[in-house]
Amino acid sequence: VRAAAVSSEVPDMNKRNIMNLILLGGASLPVGSLALGYGAFFVPPSSGGGSGGQAAKDALGNDIKANAWLATHQKGDRSLSQGLKGDPTYLIVTADGTIEKYGLNAVCTHLGCVVPWVAAENKFKCPCHGSQYNAEGKVVRGPAPLSLALAHCDVQEDGLVTFSTWSETDFRTGLEPWWA
Ligand code: FES
Repeated sequence: VRAAAVSSEVPDMNKRNIMNLILLGGASLPVGSLALGYGAFFVPPSSGGGSGGQAAKDALGNDIKANAWLATHQKGDRSLSQGLKGDPTYLIVTADGTIEKYGLNAVCTHLGCVVPWVAAENKFKCPCHGSQYNAEGKVVRGPAPLSLALAHCDVQEDGLVTFSTWSETDFRTGLEPWWA
């Protein structure tokens, strides 16, 4: 569609440029997936509240699909993805082997270190000053003053995993979200 649109507007002498455009458009998968990502941005999440969903990205910047993720991440897994505003965000695999309905922003609420998940202890433990968070991201040891921020996490009909703003009550504390 794009090449046709270009060729109808551009004189013959520019055919080489057109070929380049076509080649770039066809060969560049990252561009294609980026376009999908932007497309998904405008599709409202199928469930959950907040503003429109944003595709979760893996370490390479590719959109995360639930099936592929679940094929490579076990039950109980908490692994980092790129979430809202590019923040490192834990994508959680539930005990049932599905994508959890919330993700956890990995930025420590003390001074902002990224907090690793320590599976053997079932906790997130900040290496910077020793703060600890339980498996749901609720702070259980300071100096961090607050729990890890939540984001809604949804699987769209096409399998795309998306995050969206969590503006409801924090189910871990019963308080209004400090991050919204
Ligand atoms: Fe995590 Fe200080 S930044 S404990």
